[in-house]
Amino acid sequence: MSNTSGNKQRESFGSKFGIIAATAGSAIGLGNIWRFPYVAGENGGGAFLLIYLGFVLLIGLPVMLSELTIGKAAQRNPFGAFRILRPGEKWFLIGLMGIVAAFMINAFYTVVAGWTLEYLLKALTNQFSNKSATEISELFSSFQQTGWRPVVWTLIFIVLTATIVIAGIEKGIEKYTKILMPLLFVMIIILCIRAVTLPNSLEGLKFLFKPDFSKISNKAILEALGQAFFSLSVGMGTLITYGSYIKKKENVSSSATSVVITDTLIAVLAGVAIFPAVFSFGISPASGPDLVFQTLPNIFSQMNGGYIFGLMFFFLLIVAALTSTISILEVVVVYLVEELKMNRKKATILASLGIAFLAVFCSLSLYNVPEIAIGGKSLFGILDYTSSNILLPLGGFLIVLFVAWFMGVGKLKDEISAGGKYNVSLFGLYLFLIRFVAPLAIAAVFLYGIGLLKF
Ligand code: TRP
Repeated sequence: MSNTSGNKQRESFGSKFGIIAATAGSAIGLGNIWRFPYVAGENGGGAFLLIYLGFVLLIGLPVMLSELTIGKAAQRNPFGAFRILRPGEKWFLIGLMGIVAAFMINAFYTVVAGWTLEYLLKALTNQFSNKSATEISELFSSFQQTGWRPVVWTLIFIVLTATIVIAGIEKGIEKYTKILMPLLFVMIIILCIRAVTLPNSLEGLKFLFKPDFSKISNKAILEALGQAFFSLSVGMGTLITYGSYIKKKENVSSSATSVVITDTLIAVLAGVAIFPAVFSFGISPASGPDLVFQTLPNIFSQMNGGYIFGLMFFFLLIVAALTSTISILEVVVVYLVEELKMNRKKATILASLGIAFLAVFCSLSLYNVPEIAIGGKSLFGILDYTSSNILLPLGGFLIVLFVAWFMGVGKLKDEISAGGKYNVSLFGLYLFLIRFVAPLAIAAVFLYGIGLLKF
């Protein structure tokens, strides 16, 4: 699916399964297993989950379908796609915004991905077994206190991502993810079973599933929207890029629906695995970005076969993270290749160097050099917060407006039905969602979240 030079014929996904596998590979990652529990934990649990699910369905799914459709219609990178579909207008700026977001997201994402490499090594060397919750929490802090160790792992992860993108073997990866992602799913189910049978697990389930709307702040609603965008990989052109590899005859709406269901299921299951353990081991649900790393090893330490499960889990999580970082980097690379006529290798190296530069400061800012901060927030926190809660919703807002009002309803229907091949009985609903519901909801949540709108 990759392209070695800008002007050769574009490659495309071989099958519908290939589309779903690649899109799901992008969507499923640390966003589900690391970010969802930590953000839900900071925002009170149950009510947050409910709002999140509403946003996924009413906003996330329509934005995903819109992005894939833009890509499929234009067969070009996000920047070029807007110029093909609406020449002479400023819509291509959405593509540029996406490139900025890609740098920001990959910078903090690879930091956390680096932690998963460290935890794979810890699992391999059996460091979780027979440890108390306090000792397990110390594993994390002493790892962070070295300062250099997380940085090195992050750089290794960036090199791994770049290697795959240069080789253009994302397609080869599809072959493995077909087996590995279902395995990850099985592992999470096993973790869920162990978690809900821990003492005091009911507290955790209540936290996750019993909505308490008194815990919901303005900020929480905005963060639920940001998490929906982040988890589904929408709002910055990743899925325009992937859509551009989809053949005209394919059914994008059914692919988008499958991906949204799978991605959301995995996030909820991750919550079911984490929160019972959080309460059982006396961890604070609002621990922040290290929540999952403080919690999961306790489950492994408390289960039969914990050694092998821990090992498999962190390995699979790394693969899941890789298929996401690839999709983010791809946005920048395909832009450099198609628009600036750079070769793929040079483009990947250049983009990765930029990401690495940001990522190093990001990693240090979290626990070691708190001076790398703006307004009391670490660089890591700033990139994490602003990319998800500001850039992605803004991108999503413009994308749905574009598709709903500027692409032409006839053309839109034609792309989605693949020239009348597929049933589009819900097209009216989709159009209503992207014309009114999604843009108004995004705007309202955004203004409310930053405190400019009050009810
Ligand atoms: N969705 C991925 C995850 O949950 C991360 C990701 C990949 C992403 N591509 C993206 C996030 C584009 C936002 C935009 O881990």
